[in-house]
Amino acid sequence: MSKITYLATKDYQDLSQQAASLIIAEIVSNPKAMICLAAGDTPIGTFGELVRMAKDQAVDFSLVTFVSLDEWVGLDGQNEGSCRSYLDKYLYKPLNIKAEQIKFFDGKALDIMGECEKMNAFLAEFGPLNLCLLGIGVNGHLGFNEPYSAFDQNAYVCDLDEITQTVGNKYFKTAYNIKQGITLGLQQILSADKIITIANGDSKQAAVTALRAGVADIACPVTLLNEHQDCYAILFV
Ligand code: PGA
Repeated sequence: MSKITYLATKDYQDLSQQAASLIIAEIVSNPKAMICLAAGDTPIGTFGELVRMAKDQAVDFSLVTFVSLDEWVGLDGQNEGSCRSYLDKYLYKPLNIKAEQIKFFDGKALDIMGECEKMNAFLAEFGPLNLCLLGIGVNGHLGFNEPYSAFDQNAYVCDLDEITQTVGNKYFKTAYNIKQGITLGLQQILSADKIITIANGDSKQAAVTALRAGVADIACPVTLLNEHQDCYAILFV
């Protein structure tokens, strides 16, 4: 039976506040927390609230480690549509997070497999994640773990689903035609001590309906959260 805790939401702002409150609570209880935060449009409100709450409540982020969830292959933080640039803009810069606190995939690295190996070695030594904030893809993906990804995967380079390629255009002013991503694997995501998943808007309806059905089915990766022991779903869909 699913153990997901569904938190009721009034609107996107409320969703964002609730997600940020859970993240703040984690950092207050464990100042050295290792957390992984999804990029994308959905978490922007959460990041805004996190920055506000961190300042209002004088929460110390200086010992937190931020781990990358995913990145488009071929892009780094210099590209405005990259995952890294979202985190830089909405979270790391406003909170003055130091470079040494951030373990992020460089999607532009010449040795892209080396990026996976570095992340896998890091998580093998210091993991698992204490907290992972996840968006939900239109096709139900988690990070770039597309439908029918392997369960037992660590960080890897994956071919992007056509839906992800099409939806991904919203992040870029120029067409990039990106066909691959680098992502934490399902095993690394699902072994996080705590997971928070957020979704906003009608485009997530099918994935959220599958999640709420309560059965893990790799055809829609988000449904695997039904088997996690400490997962919150904060949805306005
Ligand atoms: P979004 O992306 O927050 O921009 O909708 C979510 C995802 O693809 O995981």
